[in-house]
Amino acid sequence: MSPEIKVYPTPADVAEAFAAMLAARIAATDRLNIALSGGSTPKLLFDLLATRYKTDLHWKKLHCYWGDERCVPPNHEDSNYLMTRKHLFDHIDLPQSNIHRILGEDNPSEEAENYGNLLTDQLTMVNELPQFDLIMLGMGEDGHTASIFPHQMELLKTDKICAVANHPTSGQKRITLTGQVINNAKEVAFLVTGAGKREKVKSILDLSAESKQYPAAHVRPTAGVVGWWLDEAAAGSV
Ligand code: 6PG
Repeated sequence: MSPEIKVYPTPADVAEAFAAMLAARIAATDRLNIALSGGSTPKLLFDLLATRYKTDLHWKKLHCYWGDERCVPPNHEDSNYLMTRKHLFDHIDLPQSNIHRILGEDNPSEEAENYGNLLTDQLTMVNELPQFDLIMLGMGEDGHTASIFPHQMELLKTDKICAVANHPTSGQKRITLTGQVINNAKEVAFLVTGAGKREKVKSILDLSAESKQYPAAHVRPTAGVVGWWLDEAAAGSV
């Protein structure tokens, strides 16, 4: 299924549209199991959800997981959980029991297995894999997504649910969903902004030969939809 490409003038406009989509997904179900992305791009979206949508949404229907987490404690500045807590969780009425944190402070190999087991216990199994309703993904300037980096393409095909990854320059260990779990989602939504991402976005959406080396190019949900939510700076001429 071809990706749905949605381009908006600015990062704030992308956040507005993405938030409206998320609100619609939450309204349409009794429970939405979402895997959140980390990094800096989601901050605008989370700030908007925490203000404009603070009282509009039935937050109790939302169960938050992560596509990846850095192997650091939850109060470390690199923690995706901490970023999400500061920009979203601290401002909305989301039960603590709806937050399913990857325990970055634990032994990486053990937590990768434990989190995979948690997903298997808590999510519906489809194709013998846990299925998310929605997976939010960012993309790095090197074409990585979640914490699947170009030097570890094997994480796209491994039969593990979660795996230990390493950041290519810092060496920082990460826990990441693997490619098969990402592609088992009902819906995947890339949230990508900024001119720095333009070259890879174009290469991937043009299905260029070179894009095969970029993990984000391999996100093609088996039965689900994949959307690219872009600002004009990242979209360029796509
Ligand atoms: C992470 C993310 C990662 C991120 C991209 C883009 O843990 O860093 O999950 O995949 O989405 O690196 O990051 P920015 O939004 O900071 O550009």
